[in-house]
Amino acid sequence: MRHLLITNAKALVGIRPEGQRSVRGLAMAELPTITNAWLLAENGRITSFGPMDRLPGITERKGLEVIDASGRYVLPGWCDPHTHTVHAAPREEEFVDKINGLSYQEIAARGGGILNSAAKLRAMSEDELFAKAESRLRTMMRQGTVAVEIKSGYGLTVESELKMLRVAKRLKSALPLRIKTTLLAAHALPVEFKEDRSAYMDLILNELLPQVEAEGLADFIDVFCETNYFTVAELERILEAGAMKGMPGKVHVNQFTSIGGIQAAIKHEALSVDHLEVMTEADIDALADAHSAIDKHAPIPTLLPSCSFFIRIPYGPARELMQRDIPVALATDFNPGTTPSGNMNFVLSLACIQARMLPEEAINAMTLNSAAAMQLADELGSITIGKRASLIITKEVPSLAYLPYAFGNDHIDTVLIDGIPVRP
Ligand code: NIG
Ligand code: FE
Repeated sequence: MRHLLITNAKALVGIRPEGQRSVRGLAMAELPTITNAWLLAENGRITSFGPMDRLPGITERKGLEVIDASGRYVLPGWCDPHTHTVHAAPREEEFVDKINGLSYQEIAARGGGILNSAAKLRAMSEDELFAKAESRLRTMMRQGTVAVEIKSGYGLTVESELKMLRVAKRLKSALPLRIKTTLLAAHALPVEFKEDRSAYMDLILNELLPQVEAEGLADFIDVFCETNYFTVAELERILEAGAMKGMPGKVHVNQFTSIGGIQAAIKHEALSVDHLEVMTEADIDALADAHSAIDKHAPIPTLLPSCSFFIRIPYGPARELMQRDIPVALATDFNPGTTPSGNMNFVLSLACIQARMLPEEAINAMTLNSAAAMQLADELGSITIGKRASLIITKEVPSLAYLPYAFGNDHIDTVLIDGIPVRP
């Protein structure tokens, strides 16, 4: 393994002590940095760093690769804890329907939406699915993403859900970025089960889940808990079954309606509650109470601003959540229906511009907190000795705020994963 020294960095950003797993509430506005700094990575891990005036005499060390980062920031790479990156095909025909005035729900009711993607995925070979997802992930790595969660949910049969998760498992060993996988068989009710939803629930819990466990295919479990999709009672059954298998919940709740999914996810100590575009006072209170209790795990709210942008729904209440001393995470939600983009840099801009997060808050939300939302905060999400040297080196930019401000532009020069450049 090569060793790498970064020198003259304008700043090292997101420096955290070992053991800190998240940052909550108004403390998210703090993003600890060292200006004019160096960082040493050995065998893919961060082993030391500090200000340039205290650089030890190692620059001439044999076999050491040196990157001069003058004028450029060094940040922890983006962690994207909610995606549907394995899918068969885009759905731009629905995009045009949306421009013509149809809503996401109307498109789904006409046989579009998740069921449309499921039909395409069932027909596609595992190798073709793999190749498409691999290419998407290579683009995401070049955009600074160093860890990603990938869900099933476009198979909706035992065979096709397993196919998706096997593809995701193969991606784990084929690519350098960290990948966590999630079983989302309860994404939409397949047409075959239209008249008998309890039979589909039984299929998930009694046939699919045991096979997923036996093959070690999923780290987490998910449900789309929403009007016309899955009920709170179904969410509870799924979270209970997941817990028995050691698979914490990461759940889709409150995207279009507030029906009690958050309270149920809290009760079952889900790892994260995702979407949250439609929140009542009671929903925010429940999350605030859960996060003030010290004896239980409280789910990390994970907001998906590029989904809000694309289907024109409200943005999750980032400010209110932080005001109530809750940690907030951000993710892309990359999927063909509501977010055809896996670009975390755009999420950063939207979080600041539309959800009014400060640049520091948003960067914390897409590094340390988003690592925590997929149980990776002990290896990624901050500049900490012992963590992976999975880092972004920006181009020369005037300030950190410039990153979200000059939206739609590419501010990244170098992406390192475990100390090895994946870009350039
Ligand atoms: O997170 N809302 C549920 N699932 C996806 C969209 C799925 C689709 O439309 O294909 C989401 O937005
Ligand atoms: Fe999603």
